[in-house]
Amino acid sequence: MISVLDNDIKLGARFIEDPYGIYAELRSTGPVRKVELPTGVRVWLVTDYAEARAALADPTLSKNVRKSAEIIDRHLAPEAKRVDFSTSLSSHMLNTDPPNHTRLRKLVNKAFTAGGIDHLRPRIEAITEELLAGMEGADELDLLEAFAFPLPITVICEMLGVPVDDREDFRSWSNQLLSNDRSEKLHNAASSMQTYLIGLIEAKRAEPSADLLSALIEASEDGDRLSGEELVSMAFLLLVAGHETTVNLIGNAMLGLLTHPDQLAALKADPTLLSGAIEEFLRYDGPVNLATFRLTTQPLVLGDTEIPADEFVVVAVTAANRDEARFPDADQLDVTRNAGGHLAFGHGIHYCVGAPLARMEAEIALGGLLSRFPNMTLAQDEDDLRWRNSMIRGLEELRVRPQG
Ligand code: HEM
Repeated sequence: MISVLDNDIKLGARFIEDPYGIYAELRSTGPVRKVELPTGVRVWLVTDYAEARAALADPTLSKNVRKSAEIIDRHLAPEAKRVDFSTSLSSHMLNTDPPNHTRLRKLVNKAFTAGGIDHLRPRIEAITEELLAGMEGADELDLLEAFAFPLPITVICEMLGVPVDDREDFRSWSNQLLSNDRSEKLHNAASSMQTYLIGLIEAKRAEPSADLLSALIEASEDGDRLSGEELVSMAFLLLVAGHETTVNLIGNAMLGLLTHPDQLAALKADPTLLSGAIEEFLRYDGPVNLATFRLTTQPLVLGDTEIPADEFVVVAVTAANRDEARFPDADQLDVTRNAGGHLAFGHGIHYCVGAPLARMEAEIALGGLLSRFPNMTLAQDEDDLRWRNSMIRGLEELRVRPQG
């Protein structure tokens, strides 16, 4: 049966604290539902694995953000302000369809393949060691602040050639951009970030070095390969992806282990389980929640629902990864499970470019934490955990006692 659903469901504050409970409720009514996001935008939310995978690979679904801007007003609740997608930060590959997407992705793909990142391993190990040493002797600390955040951000800053000292500014702008706040502050954060990146690119143009940003600047000198605007947004995308994702893979994985002592014990007893366990952490509580917008360019049938043209589709990869039909006992964290096929890195042509880097960082980071601090415990009540926003699944802080 094909039906067009029009009874909207509003995802409120409870959604940020307990997305899995809400997904289970939604999934019991079907694989696709029209909902209003906390940002006020109305979208078709895909919560089942089969439909999610199909949507992520569907060539009729567009990522063209400029087209989205033309119709987004129609989908906003009256009290919500219009979001300006027209800044030069938006023309990156994640907001682009082929053939532009293919051209942009090709420019960086090689740098992020398993072979392309192999030389980074010793440096990632050294940064990890340094951060672990800095945690020695502390009774209690925020594991995100002390470890999970500085590691990936240092790596991506060094890879691109961005001064590490600028990371705090970047963190606050990036936080603002992903928040549910659609106000003036969001526009200010976007313009500060844009001004910063333009300045950085000018400095690098004058004095190139052996980093990815200098290589991209060289590609932009031949404007057919990369325009000036695309260069700024490419730098933006890679830096934000480096800021907002791996930190939460490490944080959510440690939270999972510290709240599931049997799983922690299993992993400590057999460290060869670690790389499979990382796939399970990605499946069980992955860092990307709703940040997967697409736009229908023609009517699209997903499951038993027909979605009209010019509507937003959001694939809830976190929900799909808890679909019992694909992963039995999906709500259980099981580090021995084969979690292959999870959608935490997406699927199809926009599949995460940074996946090999994120996996390598997580393996070094979690391996280091477990061997250096085998008795670590959680230093806060599970009821007091605060999650950041609806786009990214990440904690505000994760208080631990490193020595137990
Ligand atoms: C795309 C997740 C780390 C760079 C994506 C997508 C997901 C994702 C779900 C696809 C979004 C969609 O289809 O709408 C993750 C997760 C990470 C992670 C869970 C960490 C655990 C990284 C890192 C980088 C990166 C470290 C690089 C610095 C990108 C880029 C894209 C992307 C450039 C766009 C690819 C394209 O449009 O072709 N990521 N990511 N990601 N990710 Fe990641």
